[in-house]
Amino acid sequence: MSKRPANSRRRFLKTTAAASVGAATLGSAPRVVGASQAPIHRKAEGPVVISSRNGRNAVEKVMEVLNTGADALDAVVAGVNLVEEDPNDTSVGYGGLPNADGVVQLDAAVIHGPTGRAGSVACIEGIKYPSKVAKLVLERTDHVNLVGKGAQAFARMHGFPVENLLTERARERWVRWRENLSNSDDYLPPHEAHDASIGADYVEQQRTWGTIHCSAIDLSGNISSVTTTSGLAFKIPGRVGDSPIIGAGLYCDNEVGAAGSTGRGEANLENCASFLIVERMRIGDSPEQACLYACERIADHTRKAYLLNDKGEPDFNVQFYALNAAGEVGGAQIRGKNGKFAAANSEGSFLVDLAYLYSND
Ligand code: GLY
Repeated sequence: MSKRPANSRRRFLKTTAAASVGAATLGSAPRVVGASQAPIHRKAEGPVVISSRNGRNAVEKVMEVLNTGADALDAVVAGVNLVEEDPNDTSVGYGGLPNADGVVQLDAAVIHGPTGRAGSVACIEGIKYPSKVAKLVLERTDHVNLVGKGAQAFARMHGFPVENLLTERARERWVRWRENLSNSDDYLPPHEAHDASIGADYVEQQRTWGTIHCSAIDLSGNISSVTTTSGLAFKIPGRVGDSPIIGAGLYCDNEVGAAGSTGRGEANLENCASFLIVERMRIGDSPEQACLYACERIADHTRKAYLLNDKGEPDFNVQFYALNAAGEVGGAQIRGKNGKFAAANSEGSFLVDLAYLYSND
């Protein structure tokens, strides 16, 4: 039985009816459809791509690759590679925030819609492009998941160099986190000799989840997906998030559509939300409705008191992004009315509003 107060269901359910209007003013942005619709019997009229907001440049790259006639999987991986190699994105690949020991451990997964194959790596260290390794797991093994040292050995076998992925910026963030973690250990933040109470000004530090998800439809109408991340900042070494787990961090069915996520992976893992979204689209939900449905499911299943605010709402965020076979896109998050996702089609690239359950007002 739920321990959440009865009034917790009074959510500020927000769909992008407004966002549809917003999208319309952007010319021919990918269609955002707020209401449920009939099951999809139409095919997209051209290439379409969706990603988390940090993929604004990535979706343009994906469109460029798709327009050469490339397969959607090659295109989405090429798109997210831009973010994996970007030292300024501290949630993905090179420059990602490390685990509690200061080691960058990466997770990534891919799904190829037309063949229904998947590949993923988890807790891989020293490899700048985990999405490329996940694609090789799909293409060159009879497995789906490789983890840790085995994943790194597989990458080295295929010629990937082992590199230091910890940038100075990420190292400094980790040291600050470690030194301020507790007032009863022996690590001290910068202080003066006369300070009587070192670390007394400690304020809880934001730990981020980051991540990029990207799905696309190619010129042949085929769909593929990728999700790649450095995961939760300062995580327990060995922690695997939702990103490399098929059905959680991403899912793709070539006849229906694709979905993926960013945010608190544990909530997504416990609800198989990307799979759920694709199945909701299969029975007629629009991409946005399906993403909101997954947000509702997580809210309903969140029972741990420390994860709830005083209104009984989940006190964390998860974002979902979905694309259907007809080329419509949509997204939703649990908290906050200012979320966006990136999308592109032959008309250009766009930032589009995420629907939400709770406004944060
Ligand atoms: N969603 C990314 C993670 O939890 O690792």
